[in-house]
Amino acid sequence: MDNVLGTLNGIEFTIGDSLLELSYLIAALLFVYGLKLLSHPETARRGNLWAAAGMGLAMFTTIVLHKDANGTGISLTNIWIIMAAIGVGAVIGWIIARKIKMTGMPQLVSIYNATGGAASALVALLEYPNAIAGDVGSILVTVLGLIIGAVAFSGSMIAYGKLDGKVGDIMKPFMTYINLVLLALTLGFGAYIIISPNPPVEMIWAIYTLLAFSLVYGVMFVMPIGGADMPVVISLLNSFTGIAAAMAGFIYSNQAMILGGILVGSAGTILTILMCKAMNRSLINVIIGSFGGGGAALDREQGNIKEIMLSDAAVLLTYSQKIVIVPGYGLAVAQAQHIVHELDALLNGKGVDVKYAIHPVAGRMPGHMNVLLAEADVPYENLVEMDDINPDMPNVDVVIVIGANDVVNPAAYDDPTSPIYGMPIIDAHLAKNIIIMKRGMGKGYAGIENFLFFDDKTRMLFGDAKDSISKLVSEIKSM
Ligand code: TAP
Repeated sequence: MDNVLGTLNGIEFTIGDSLLELSYLIAALLFVYGLKLLSHPETARRGNLWAAAGMGLAMFTTIVLHKDANGTGISLTNIWIIMAAIGVGAVIGWIIARKIKMTGMPQLVSIYNATGGAASALVALLEYPNAIAGDVGSILVTVLGLIIGAVAFSGSMIAYGKLDGKVGDIMKPFMTYINLVLLALTLGFGAYIIISPNPPVEMIWAIYTLLAFSLVYGVMFVMPIGGADMPVVISLLNSFTGIAAAMAGFIYSNQAMILGGILVGSAGTILTILMCKAMNRSLINVIIGSFGGGGAALDREQGNIKEIMLSDAAVLLTYSQKIVIVPGYGLAVAQAQHIVHELDALLNGKGVDVKYAIHPVAGRMPGHMNVLLAEADVPYENLVEMDDINPDMPNVDVVIVIGANDVVNPAAYDDPTSPIYGMPIIDAHLAKNIIIMKRGMGKGYAGIENFLFFDDKTRMLFGDAKDSISKLVSEIKSM
């Protein structure tokens, strides 16, 4: 055969094979470089493009250069089918990406995550009958790819429903035990398939049963998670999708898939650990779905709400020395990021020190507030992490809470019955004055009352955040 470079274990290596491996190496380097750029809002867009270029290269070279074990490339018919599938996917993806609002991004990410998990589970399902009986290694990666991919798929679909408000939290005490039994059954059944001496073609019933167990487990473990704990689950599902893709890569011995999957899986795992730390939760509790929604908050005296007039708020802010803005999901809903930057620049111009306090789970996706404020060119050094800003909170003249609720709810400290009990919060309650901007008395994602609104130091400025801040800016300018 032409272009043969050599043989290894009886298999011939051609220039095409070497080019394919080289392209995977370049793709892997592009993934890593893209990931590095993604770590800062200013370079994140470019990072996305470099990583996408790496994926494009890996896809192109696979289609053109891939050969199966007997040396034949992908048939023309299959190339047409692949192109048609890519075309349909690209058009659907393009339309959705153009239409989606920023506030819908978390739901979109969940659906993408679900499709990634489903794709890996389907690869495992289709390739299982081709595995060789007794080849424990290849059956192991197939079974793991199926379990993890299916759990990522069904779990992410439930997460999508929850983020979109279509699915509520269902938490009953016995669900922890059901989840433990389901997890044990799924893993036990997977182990049975791996060690079974029967040829895979005779075990098709078993692989479909395993798929069913995994899908049900994905639903059941995400179902009870609520309160404010969804971020942990979302990042965990994200890492599952990466790991499942890596398993699919092992099935095909495809370096690009393995590396891409490992990068997503490890990034998701690091994020999960950070989220667990941020929420003060243990990972094992997430996996068995034993914490979250449904908790009834302590019944206590509410007190009175006090409102503040725009003119009073303008005076208070202008004569302050230190102001901290706590952005939350409502800031994203109102799309008030540009006007809030105008407010902070205006106050800065008057000699006021203005900083933003960033809670790790504010908004609806990891880094939501950082991305939102970066879009409005708020200098990155003005964003201060929760742990760094909290010790200074008693020295803050005014804290302005804009569309945030759960992340400043003191019930996390003092109400053991609250579903957010134990979660670290931004200590807005320790500031000298508190202004809260929201439309009404609506609850946050955890669906619980916030007694900060009834605090003696708190003044409410009701209205859409963008509208309220615009009026405040005009008021300060006219002073
Ligand atoms: P939330 O607790 O969800 O509160 C948002 C508040 O914004 C609401 O109380 C709402 O009150 C107000 N709001 C909505 N639209 C507004 C508008 N146009 N103008 C002004 N205010 C508006 O937000 P948070 O404090 O950012 O906390 C995030 C929550 O989401 C946490 O519980 C977190 O665990 C959860 N979560 C986070 C993630 C990630 S990864 N970050 C993922 C899933 C869930 P009104 O209706 O009265 O205006």
